Amino acid sequence: MAQYTITINGKAQQVEAAPDTPMLWVLRDHLDLVGTKFGCGIGQCGACTIHFNGVATRSCQIPISAVGENPVVTIEGLSKEADHPVQKAWIEHDVPQCGYCQSGQIMSAASLLKQNPNPTDQEIENGMSGNICRCGTYTRIKKAIKTAANS
Ligand code: FES
Ligand code: FES
Repeated sequence: MAQYTITINGKAQQVEAAPDTPMLWVLRDHLDLVGTKFGCGIGQCGACTIHFNGVATRSCQIPISAVGENPVVTIEGLSKEADHPVQKAWIEHDVPQCGYCQSGQIMSAASLLKQNPNPTDQEIENGMSGNICRCGTYTRIKKAIKTAANS
């Protein structure tokens, strides 16, 4: 076990954990930030996507020892009132079905639009290809990203 101070959603947090503990479990089990979901644990599904140093990253693949001073943002910290343009577009298009993959989808979409505010269909497909949805909400996700891009 080791002591870490990490910045989550703009707040410094003290966590005691083994150095190889994935951030996914630090968030969920140590900090009760359960909006970030466990899908596969091996970097294949995108359900655990957070922003790490401003970029969409799979939290199951980042050990706490690698975080250092890099800021982490989770779905809980993406906006104050769930009013990020991506979240508003998600509501407008009624995107989720079961919802399980959706925080990861939203975090990936927000990161994509930050890097590329006006993506083409192909760029959206490429940017979102690492986020799997068992319910097949891909068409609505694409529409919502376009709406958010134009807002
Ligand atoms: S749980 Fe991290 S990519 Fe699937
Ligand atoms: S909404 Fe059910 S897995 Fe995506």
